Amino acid sequence: MAIAYADVIVDLQSGDTGKGKIAHVLAATKEYDIVLRYNGGSNAGHTVYHNGQKVVTHQVPIGVLHGIKSIIGPGCVVNVQQLNDEIIALKKLGINTKDLIFVDKRAHIVTGNHITEDSADEKIGTTKQGIGPAYRDKYARTGRRIGDRQSHIHFEVIDIYDLLFSPNTHHTILCEGAQGFNLDIDWGEYPYVTSSHCTVGSACLNGIPPRKLNRIIGVMKAYETYVGNKIHFSDKNNPIFQKIQELGGEYGATTGRPRMVNWMNIDTVIKAMQINGVTDVIINKGDILRQMDAVGLIINNEVQYFSDYEQFKQHVTSVLTNYTYNIIWSETPNGI
Ligand code: IMP
Ligand code: MG
Repeated sequence: MAIAYADVIVDLQSGDTGKGKIAHVLAATKEYDIVLRYNGGSNAGHTVYHNGQKVVTHQVPIGVLHGIKSIIGPGCVVNVQQLNDEIIALKKLGINTKDLIFVDKRAHIVTGNHITEDSADEKIGTTKQGIGPAYRDKYARTGRRIGDRQSHIHFEVIDIYDLLFSPNTHHTILCEGAQGFNLDIDWGEYPYVTSSHCTVGSACLNGIPPRKLNRIIGVMKAYETYVGNKIHFSDKNNPIFQKIQELGGEYGATTGRPRMVNWMNIDTVIKAMQINGVTDVIINKGDILRQMDAVGLIINNEVQYFSDYEQFKQHVTSVLTNYTYNIIWSETPNGI
């Protein structure tokens, strides 16, 4: 059978919706024997609380915290030194990573030159991690792949095919995405996007047959944040957004940049739900929005205000129910 089924986590907004937390909660169920990261690189930042400790990972899939085999798939780009450093940092926190972290040989390497080039970016507002230049070289067929390198210290290089399709196995896989729908290279607001695919199809590009997909778990926040140079995302001086930014701790896990805040845009969320074909939707950070005096929702590019959080929640639930089977409002920082 090889692969029994795969569940996929996708982000329905602009990244930073709490996918790491959801992956952490799902991996804890021990339902999965493999966690697969399917796109992006060290531009991502997953912040989770593990046994009372704050853990931030950029490249290592969250599954490793629960002792699950974690693969960085062929759709990713890898900063080798940073990945090694990240694994060392996890070990220092007492997390066992031995024989658990694998990188597919096809994943491309982010080089020093890629980072230098990306550091000069002023147009997009990238994370300066060399992601765009690395993907560009991949598609120009001038890139270097992990399998081309000689030494890897803290992780193992594999052919993901051999692992996923080994005989007499019944893998249950959790596919962990990075960034989000509005940052997707095709579906996002080009050119203010990342250089990888952030939809469910991206998981399949890593060797998961579409027929094996089981649950598609869309993750979003009760409001939206964005980091980058897109103008007109929101009014930075709006005191409500400033308050949400403070209470929600909306600062980049990778760059420390403050994230711009805006109300949930229900139209882009619906589009992301439709294109990803989500079975479940998790809406995070309701606990933050609940503390606001006014709660808004963007509908048709206009803000509609609700008298309180409960009214807002009821309305959003009634609309989104048409596009998924299951909606969960998460109003706690560490669980669902
Ligand atoms: P890049 O992926 O570093 O090239 O950045 C392209 C755009 O995506 C910028 O607006 C970044 O701020 C944004 N971005 C990339 N990764 C993340 C992420 O993990 N969370 C939120 N925004 C991201
Ligand atoms: Mg993040």
